[in-house]
Amino acid sequence: MKIPVWLDCDPGHDDAIAITLCCFHPALQLLGINASYGNAPATRTAYNARSLITALGMFEQIPVYAGAQKPLYRTPEYAPDIHGESGLDGTELLPEPKCDLQEKSYLDAMEEAILKYSNDITIVVTGPLTSLATLLTQRPHLKSKIRYISIMGGGVEVGNRNDNCSAEFNVWIDPEAANFVLQDSELKDKCILLGLDITHKAIATQQVIENVRGVVDKSKLRQLFYELFQFFAHSYEGAQDFKNGPPLHDPLTLIPLLEFYGWTPKSQVQFYYKRLDLKVVDDTNQPDFGKTCVIKEYDFEDKKGTMVGFNSNMEFFWKQILSSFEEAEKHSTIE
Ligand code: BDR
Ligand code: CA
Repeated sequence: MKIPVWLDCDPGHDDAIAITLCCFHPALQLLGINASYGNAPATRTAYNARSLITALGMFEQIPVYAGAQKPLYRTPEYAPDIHGESGLDGTELLPEPKCDLQEKSYLDAMEEAILKYSNDITIVVTGPLTSLATLLTQRPHLKSKIRYISIMGGGVEVGNRNDNCSAEFNVWIDPEAANFVLQDSELKDKCILLGLDITHKAIATQQVIENVRGVVDKSKLRQLFYELFQFFAHSYEGAQDFKNGPPLHDPLTLIPLLEFYGWTPKSQVQFYYKRLDLKVVDDTNQPDFGKTCVIKEYDFEDKKGTMVGFNSNMEFFWKQILSSFEEAEKHSTIE
């Protein structure tokens, strides 16, 4: 059985790669996408998600829903410094979407998917945790039916936002939503957190970016992603001084699943994590506002606490990304 996943994202350059991996990795079955506010306003991320699945030739298979439009209690913050005003700046090759946003609410759609794939489904979140917190606040009976929640967010030792540079963007923009998920006794032990501690080790070097473009087959799809990568590299160098390439955060959320569902041996994935209880600082007056703090560390055998990633086999990771591009090329609608 393939791994049923629901993707809640805010595309976003690295979200775009997570979408590609979800669509074309042979182990993954992508059930639906929510596009929420985050890297850009929600109308923009929704356009980007629809354009991307059009480019990938998956616009008839993958439904796209409007996710959360703003944080639970706060004014939205976006990330134009990294992703540009559109959320996906850097290329003219993104096609006009061939699909509309679904009319059904993301709450109903996610509930249906969770009930259909009860105890098997993983919810992958690569943007703020607002949509998931909203769903599970309103429909708490769904909590027990989710197998894993795999989140790109937070960071124990590393940050990219606030005055002390101690917070990570996805949890910093809605700390109350993050705390709802990470502090819930029924949810926290099934959360897998891919924070900056691990994602800053997934550096898309120029060699990786050249491999995305491909030497022989410079298809338009590869060119599109090549341009997105170049923009991402440029903005990460300018905004956060990453000289060897940008960290490709979001698709890492899919990697531990390959190990945990038994698709790929542990010895290949080599996902190294600690089991921790976490809390995000939600007091705006604190200089560490948005920081992910460790409240407790568990022994491994306890099987308690969020699984917080610190390392993985990055060669294996890049291999999964490049294989998904090979598959994507066969489906692409842009020429
Ligand atoms: C996270 O913030 C966004 O800019 C990226 O898409 C990623 O999800 C990294 O902090
Ligand atoms: Ca993202």
